[in-house]
Amino acid sequence: MSNASGNPKTALITGITGQDGSYLAELLLEEGYFVHGIVRRSSTFNTDRIDHIYTDPHNADARLFLHYGDLTDGQNLTNLVLNIEPDEIYNLGAQSHVRVSFDNPVYTVQTTAVGALNVLEAARQLNRKKPTRVYQASSSEMFGDVLETPQTEKTPFQPQSPYACAKVYAFHQTVNYRHAYDLFACNGILFNHESPRRGETFVTRKITRAATRIKLGLQEKLYLGNLDAKRDWGYAKDYVRGMWLMLQHDTPDDYVLATGETYTIRQFLDYTFEHLELDWKDYVETDPRYFRPTEVDLLLGDYSKAKNVLGWEPETSCKELAQLMVDYDLELARNEAVRATIAQGKSA
Ligand code: NAP
Ligand code: GDD
Repeated sequence: MSNASGNPKTALITGITGQDGSYLAELLLEEGYFVHGIVRRSSTFNTDRIDHIYTDPHNADARLFLHYGDLTDGQNLTNLVLNIEPDEIYNLGAQSHVRVSFDNPVYTVQTTAVGALNVLEAARQLNRKKPTRVYQASSSEMFGDVLETPQTEKTPFQPQSPYACAKVYAFHQTVNYRHAYDLFACNGILFNHESPRRGETFVTRKITRAATRIKLGLQEKLYLGNLDAKRDWGYAKDYVRGMWLMLQHDTPDDYVLATGETYTIRQFLDYTFEHLELDWKDYVETDPRYFRPTEVDLLLGDYSKAKNVLGWEPETSCKELAQLMVDYDLELARNEAVRATIAQGKSA
């Protein structure tokens, strides 16, 4: 992929260490980009999801570069953007856990709302000397207590959590920067998307990790909250392609990415445990800690616009998604069981 000057394109990804950031980085490298990612300093390594694509930056053929930064540090973001001069900026960084946003509302707003504004402001400054394009990771969570079903780009928002309120702010600022400054800025309104790289405290991965550990005798019970909520679950790998397509289009716009199907947590439990020839009702118990002060009961997306304009379609069903996550997690559980056996042998 070349830019207007005929050079390979350069992209900057915030949240590169997260689920989506890692898949997007892989896709952009495959497309021939130079990829820069922002990572947070932490006391333990937080680059597991991208270690397999990272090479020594001193190598002549290195194409992935990491920089310390934080969405709450606007000056740092602006310096990075002005130095790197990316053709495309993907703002995927966020405090992305809805339940946690009730515990940390101010931090969530600083990262997820003001952080997005910091990215837009940095992009606006770069755009004055070199054209750049911005993708903002907006969320179906913004529809909240939904006002219509299925939800489209025209459905009004009714957010139900500090996280969702922060994402609504970032959505509107992205549209505002597009109108006010002629910045090429797009919102992807993505419905839930999962993968073997999904964080282990989101419900699908929590289920597939626990079920596979139960299968191998490493865990006895799985504690969950509301099993009746419905989600439109897709595969993260399919969705990052949609993000990229939004920034390749001639004009900036906002798009829903979804599967057009919705399932309860119970149905996801069915798909997971059936694949392991187990019955989840023997293992799952309710823990009120996992209920939320306000819940989003139903999400179901209509992705017609993305299909018609971008040619994007999801390729993985919810059942296939559950099965590929189980297959991956079963391997992790097997390795854990082997390590436990070796440790037992050593102590005997
Ligand atoms: P994720 O796995 O939780 O990744 C979040 C990323 O943001 C991580 O790299 C994290 O870094 C980084 N981050 C958090 N706080 C930061 C800060 N203050 N400064 C810089 N980076 C920070 O999320 P994901 O599932 O990949 O989702 C990507 C984006 O899409 C998020 O904005 C999320 O809200 C949004 N979204 C996700 C979904 C979904 O279903 N997955 C749906 C709609 C929208 P660490 O690794 O250091 O924690
Ligand atoms: N996390 C979690 N843990 N959720 C549970 C549990 C549990 O033990 N038990 C039931 N649930 C229910 C939640 O109440 C919610 O209704 C549903 O499972 C999905 O929860 P999550 O997997 O945490 O995802 P989410 O829908 O709240 O948010 C995700 O999707 C959004 C897009 O709609 C996140 O990825 C957000 O960042 C994203 O914007």
